[in-house]
Amino acid sequence: MDIQTLEKSFAAHFNAKPNFIVRAPGRVNLIGEHTDYNDGFVLPMAIDRAVWIALAVRSDREVRVHSLEYETDSVFSLFDLTRGKGWGEYIKGVAYELQKENFDLRGFDAVITGDIPRGAGLSSSAAVELAAARAFSAASDFEWDAARMAKLAQKAENEWVGVNCGIMDQMASAISKSGYALFLDCRSLEVQYAPLPENISVVILDTSTRRKLVESAYNERRSQCEEAAKQLGVQALRDAKLETLNSAHGLSEIVMRRARHVVTENARVLEAVKALKDKDIKRLGELFNASHESLRDDFEVTNDALNVMADCAREQSSCYGARMTGAGFGGCAVALAERESAEEFVSAVSVSYKEKSGLDASAYVCQASEGASVVFP
Ligand code: GLA
Repeated sequence: MDIQTLEKSFAAHFNAKPNFIVRAPGRVNLIGEHTDYNDGFVLPMAIDRAVWIALAVRSDREVRVHSLEYETDSVFSLFDLTRGKGWGEYIKGVAYELQKENFDLRGFDAVITGDIPRGAGLSSSAAVELAAARAFSAASDFEWDAARMAKLAQKAENEWVGVNCGIMDQMASAISKSGYALFLDCRSLEVQYAPLPENISVVILDTSTRRKLVESAYNERRSQCEEAAKQLGVQALRDAKLETLNSAHGLSEIVMRRARHVVTENARVLEAVKALKDKDIKRLGELFNASHESLRDDFEVTNDALNVMADCAREQSSCYGARMTGAGFGGCAVALAERESAEEFVSAVSVSYKEKSGLDASAYVCQASEGASVVFP
């Protein structure tokens, strides 16, 4: 998407010029899966696929947003927010949370567009939320506090939309830096930026499978983790040690495996950050592979397509490691490949995946991009 095209779409719809264009990216999680709601560590990066909103400020408190993809509108008054259905709920939810925290919001006319595939594990909903927050901040002229807005967007998703997600996606979309992975402590929300080595490419491998009922399976994993923490007598699984886990009595076999994933995954994130600092790509790749195995066997959130995709990636000599990314149950895998053979890697994995699964993959090299921002003026 570019500014001119969006300006044209805005003009075609509203017969006016936008005052602002804002952008908020999707994310790919490099490692640290299902650790965020256990107060743990994650290492995502914002990707070069995003949600854009072009907007003109109104003098009243009406919000009118036209979606270029869905060709539908979401229209509501900031005086009277009521729950409805569809993509507009993410925007309304953000408005609701902002007003709850006493932000004085102004209405706007807007067009919204984006190129993050939905339901693929790349956080298209967090991107809509952060783009909406950025739009309100521009229109209503309040200062942009990225971490605060990420927390508020998560609340919108938890309370307005009704999805019990952790904080990773919103933080990644809000606060990432171009060229860096984001090492986030989900308890303190302390952030460190880890530079990505120049000789590797991060490749997104979309299995093209989307599983329904992800939310109920996700919530079930969350409650199993909470149960494990309770039985181990710790505040969250972030505080549990592998040794204590191995000697713990009373945990059911399944809860024990869920907890083991979280405890070992947290350790893998810390090691991955070290491997990045040491430019030890080989080790980083091994950690990716170990993470996938743990998500497959202990946490049980992969599906056949994700397992096949990870195998297809690892078969290539230019691959350092591959794993599922995001909530799981379908969607995307992420692989680390040698930069100079990344394009061949993409085609070879797509061919091999088609052979083995009968499905069409969509694979692409992605760049670590900047968090939510105003791109015009
Ligand atoms: C989804 C959630 C995140 C996180 C991941 C799994 O993307 O929105 O908060 O829990 O799943 O790591």
